[in-house]
Amino acid sequence: MGGVQNKASRTAQQVALFRALETARGHDRVFDDPLAVRFLSGGYRWLARAARVRPVGLRLSRFIDSRWPGPRPSAVARTRLIDDLVVAALRGGARQVLLLGAGYDSRAYRLPGMSRVAVFEADHPATQAVKRRLIRGAVRPERRGHVTFVPVDLLVEDLGEALLRNGFAALEPTVVVWEGVTNYLTEAAVDATLRRLADLTATGSRLVLTYVDRRVLDGVIDAGAVAGGGQAGRGAVDVRVRPGAPGRLSRRAGHAARSRHVHPGRGRPLSAAARAT
Ligand SMILES: C[S@@+](CC[C@H](N)C(=O)[O-])C[C@H]1O[C@@H](n2cnc3c(N)ncnc32)[C@H](O)[C@@H]1O
Repeated sequence: MGGVQNKASRTAQQVALFRALETARGHDRVFDDPLAVRFLSGGYRWLARAARVRPVGLRLSRFIDSRWPGPRPSAVARTRLIDDLVVAALRGGARQVLLLGAGYDSRAYRLPGMSRVAVFEADHPATQAVKRRLIRGAVRPERRGHVTFVPVDLLVEDLGEALLRNGFAALEPTVVVWEGVTNYLTEAAVDATLRRLADLTATGSRLVLTYVDRRVLDGVIDAGAVAGGGQAGRGAVDVRVRPGAPGRLSRRAGHAARSRHVHPGRGRPLSAAARAT
């Protein structure tokens, strides 16, 4: 969904479905997200349950990939990649985590080390209300005490004020995950958010974000053209990126000059996900 509706995000459910399907694959899955299925409603939940029968799950993934090439393996690949980056940041001394546009991200409840730090889940109020209700039903109170929910519409509200009101500690080493969200915002909202993050986090903090090439969003070119070589069917949403853009973005907002661009197809988690069907 875009950020403007007052309904819970449909795309957040779709990402949860992809994670539930990957989890259902069993022994060769690239991550285990047992909560993903709990976020699904109606037909999506039924599909995720049916996918536990392995041949059904494999056919379902193949069908999804043939109809909508790219988004499913992209979601799987980036989930694992970001899991690894967050765990590494926690081992490196991050003391708080901000999941920005958290949707049905369950990292707060499933990644090692998360329960020892403060985790802030910031999201559009409509999606967050649904998530909070589902989390209350799925996660025991003692396993969610480290999580603070911050309702915020990034298109119209100031992220900094919302975070500080809810106990976010300014200038602590922080890892920020901004996954699958920037393409729903305006350029002004992205800039404002990046500036706030630069103001609010300590030197050495980490920001992990995904983005979609502007030309794809504007319909100027097809995603496959950016991926190159007609790889859209096997690629990821992150395939649709222009190398270098995160560096420019983050420098503009006053972040550290060091940024690493991860291109699909390089690195183990991505290639593991690429053969996920
Ligand atoms: C595709 S989902 C990704 C969710 C999550 N990051 C993940 O990867 O599972 C997009 C998310 O962006 C959030 N979002 C969209 N517009 C927003 C806005 N204006 N303010 C805050 N969040 C917004 C939605 O609520 C949703 O949770």
